[in-house]
Amino acid sequence: VGTPNLILKRGDFNRLAQMVLERTGICLSDHKLYFVQSRLTERIVSLGYQNFADYCRDLEKAENEQEWSFVFKSLTTNLSRFFREAHHFELLEKALLEWSLQNKDYKTDPTTKLRLWSAGCAAGQEAYSMAFVVAKVFGTDPGFDIRILATDINKDVLDQACEGKYETYCLKDIPQEFHHYVREDKNCIRIHEDIAQMVKFGALNLMDPWPMQCRFDVVFCRNVAIYFAPEGQKKLFTKCANLMKDHGLLCVGHSETLLDLKDLFLPLGQTAYVKKPTAFVQEKPDFSSDKTQEQAS
Ligand SMILES: C[S@@+](CC[C@H](N)C(=O)[O-])C[C@H]1O[C@@H](n2cnc3c(N)ncnc32)[C@H](O)[C@@H]1O
Repeated sequence: VGTPNLILKRGDFNRLAQMVLERTGICLSDHKLYFVQSRLTERIVSLGYQNFADYCRDLEKAENEQEWSFVFKSLTTNLSRFFREAHHFELLEKALLEWSLQNKDYKTDPTTKLRLWSAGCAAGQEAYSMAFVVAKVFGTDPGFDIRILATDINKDVLDQACEGKYETYCLKDIPQEFHHYVREDKNCIRIHEDIAQMVKFGALNLMDPWPMQCRFDVVFCRNVAIYFAPEGQKKLFTKCANLMKDHGLLCVGHSETLLDLKDLFLPLGQTAYVKKPTAFVQEKPDFSSDKTQEQAS
């Protein structure tokens, strides 16, 4: 017996879309009605609801984190790959080499910090790819304070990311020069501890206040803003600028653009940008205390 058909009425869709927008910045445009209906019907029926209206009502009134987490997961994709958009990792290597030339005393100066962030990291492929490149430039024991923060709204993918375990076919996405950082196990590959210890994973909804207190040298925020309305995208990247060091590198997804933010970022091409030193800072980053703050300070 299949799942009964529930009809998502336009009014309920609008309510749901508004709640999703407020909570996550994710924009569900009108044509997404059938997509939402098909993604949520099975869940709604399994919870015993007879219609979308009752489900929306309960979502609206409840601080039901578990259910919200299900909704986010259903409406977004966690698709990622190691070295996705490989040119960004070439740029990263260049940026790190340049940084090492400009900070010649980095090994002896105890105040030196290098901070990277994978924002919307999915199951960690992007953050580990950054760590491979960091290891290539500085080794796995760089001898100074260097950290990669990786955050996502979806706690399930973060669990997988922390585990550092992937299907064997993912190995083909990792350039040969990094294969010694990966161990082949039964039907899977595992990220070496030397690489894994460079990355700290944490849950963060990018629409919530950001707890990080450091300034980032590199931010990869790729294929996340694509879900946001234009206003949300602008806010997101403005907040990124506020949290980045001058001349820091920002990479966004291939279908995302920062052309509206010419005051803040200089385009390098291929959806990579440099934070302008004279950047006009419109709003201060939000600080609050939670785990991500410790990880990223
Ligand atoms: C398509 S994946 C991109 C993964 C990786 N950045 C890449 O480019 O391969 C998008 C990720 O963004 C996350 N995401 C969506 N909305 C978010 C939000 N408001 N805050 C934090 N992460 C979010 C999703 O959970 C998902 O893991």
